[in-house]
Amino acid sequence: MSHILEVSDLEVSFSGDGGKNISVDHISFYVDPGEVVCIVGESGCGKSVTSLSVMGLLGRGGSVTSGSVLFEGKDLLAMTEKELDQIRGDRLTMIFQDPLTSLNPVFTIGNQMTESIRVHMGLGKEEAAARALMLLKKVGLPDAAAVMRRYPHLLSGGMRQRVMIAMALSCSPSLLIADEPTTALDVTIQAQIMELILELKEELGMSVLLITHDMGLVAQMADRVLVMYAGQMIEQAPVLELFDHPAHPYTKALLRSVPGIMDRRDRVLESIEGMVPEQYDMITGCRFADRCPYRRDICSRPQTDTMIMDSHLVRCCRAGEVGNDASK
Ligand SMILES: Nc1ncnc2c1ncn2[C@@H]1O[C@H](COP(=O)(O)OP(=O)(O)O)[C@@H](O)[C@H]1O
Ligand code: SF4
Ligand SMILES: [Mg+2]
Repeated sequence: MSHILEVSDLEVSFSGDGGKNISVDHISFYVDPGEVVCIVGESGCGKSVTSLSVMGLLGRGGSVTSGSVLFEGKDLLAMTEKELDQIRGDRLTMIFQDPLTSLNPVFTIGNQMTESIRVHMGLGKEEAAARALMLLKKVGLPDAAAVMRRYPHLLSGGMRQRVMIAMALSCSPSLLIADEPTTALDVTIQAQIMELILELKEELGMSVLLITHDMGLVAQMADRVLVMYAGQMIEQAPVLELFDHPAHPYTKALLRSVPGIMDRRDRVLESIEGMVPEQYDMITGCRFADRCPYRRDICSRPQTDTMIMDSHLVRCCRAGEVGNDASK
């Protein structure tokens, strides 16, 4: 099966007053048709920079300094803005944590949805408006016609996120990238929106790349999981394999910090001590070393990926021992 998205050896840097910072360090991963792949990791690990570079939406100062991003077999990094525009919002779409930043405040919802559908699907105004209305109903907005007439700031956070999803799905994309789409919403709305994404995924046969720091959401949504730490991909595995046999100490710690995923009922919830290092591109050895209970001298050497099972990759020289240790 050919991958719908294949990212190889991607390096992303930002240049500023202090010189060049490598935010995403030679990561590789793929998404298959119909799959939900979750990228997890604490704040500042490079999840958003990864998704923005796939979309070609890195802001000023940011650039992809090596690697390739193949979407449906074509290299997005080699495309012109015009070619990219034809794919974005059509076959490949993205929803963000805060929909207000991606909705235009001076146009009504109906206006912006209709325009986007006209541009991407080549429909007439009335047909496009009818499709917008149908999509708003589909994402569970009770009075879709009234929502069409409103401006974004007059909607609640949950309603705006539904509008964003409707817009993202308006041209039946084959891949939806969602960057912490429900972090700002309360848990009930979050659950509804995730249900909705799963339903639409089944119906449209699309793939989803979901970025989150919430392992509970991962359990609910993912087929496969990618764990990022300090700009690197440190573990990749199918979701059950990852939950049953986490091999990287960071993944183990992330799973221990979530209620209800590990087995013991009397377990005390833990958080991971310490912080993601800020200037992580200066660290040549394992970047998790200063927080890791398994650390040894050997960990100060550069770490490489090891395949420990079919589709299970880990970047830790002690993964074999770590994976068999139930005590930490
Ligand atoms: N616009 C930017 N300019 C400079 N550095 C940035 C910029 N955006 C992100 N970074 C850096 O890239 C790293 C990864 O950030 P990000 O991808 O936003 O993390 P995450 O989404 O996992 O919380 C961080 O160290 C952050 O400081
Ligand atoms: S390489 Fe060493 S320090 Fe890094 S995660 Fe593995 S055991 Fe811990
Ligand atoms: Mg982010």
